[in-house]
Amino acid sequence: MPPLPDAQTVTEVEHYTDRLFRFKTTRPASLRFRSGEFVMIGLMGDEDPATCKSKPILRAYSIASPSWDEELEFYSIKVQDGPLTSKLQHIKAGQEVILRPKPVGTLVHDALLPGKRLWLFSTGTGFAPFSSLLRDPETYKKFEQVIITHTCREVAELTYSKQIIDAIHGNEMLVELIGAENLEKLTYYPTTTREESPKIGRITTLLEDGTVFGELGIEGMNPEEDRAMICGSMGLNTDLKAILEGYGLEEGANSQPRHFVVEKAFVG
Ligand code: A2P
Repeated sequence: MPPLPDAQTVTEVEHYTDRLFRFKTTRPASLRFRSGEFVMIGLMGDEDPATCKSKPILRAYSIASPSWDEELEFYSIKVQDGPLTSKLQHIKAGQEVILRPKPVGTLVHDALLPGKRLWLFSTGTGFAPFSSLLRDPETYKKFEQVIITHTCREVAELTYSKQIIDAIHGNEMLVELIGAENLEKLTYYPTTTREESPKIGRITTLLEDGTVFGELGIEGMNPEEDRAMICGSMGLNTDLKAILEGYGLEEGANSQPRHFVVEKAFVG
């Protein structure tokens, strides 16, 4: 087989459930990115018998590792008939993936105006860009309070986000980098919707009925203080956008920073 274009070597793989896994790869020396951005990742598809050629199958993946990390981390769903993830879920350390080194995305600090409180709302693999942002010291320099919510169907699907939050509080290097005093700014708010856990319900419901605000001692949201990033399913993104707009927050972009930004989590 000819060498892959833009090939990077897988260095680590961890499976969480039959639907979720993460992997790490080497990082191209030239790759610079802002925490929260995504790149195209893929594998070569099967050979077309007619032409004896194969094409790369590429999908957008948020980089889950922070911009200072020597390696790159990705958090992925496994879809049994998904063109890419049906193959990617079997990847092992030492094998290669294609990585197009052109990072882009809206879940970046540059797309938000300065504020007091940063809300990071995620469902499923939508936690990935926030895994990067939460390990970036800039996130804590910019805000007095950082709230990360992660909603999944089942408890086991929260394992990756719990692992990252535990590392932020317990890994010596991370604690030193972020600053122990800054870690007090961070609140992790995991919820499940289809299995018993300490917090049950969709984040949208828990915002609308006031549960989140009551538990965190916050009086709703306002465009002067609150900033938000949303990353989840299409439904979550649409519903949450409406809730934030109800509080007077406006959607921003790289070219026009405002109060919140939205991106669809990778599915398939
Ligand atoms: P639910 O179980 O009530 O559908 P999925 O695994 O389908 O991507 O969903 C991940 C999580 O996102 C689930 O807990 C799911 O809740 C939740 N979710 C899906 N759609 C919405 C939505 N429109 N608003 C809020 N949460 C949602």
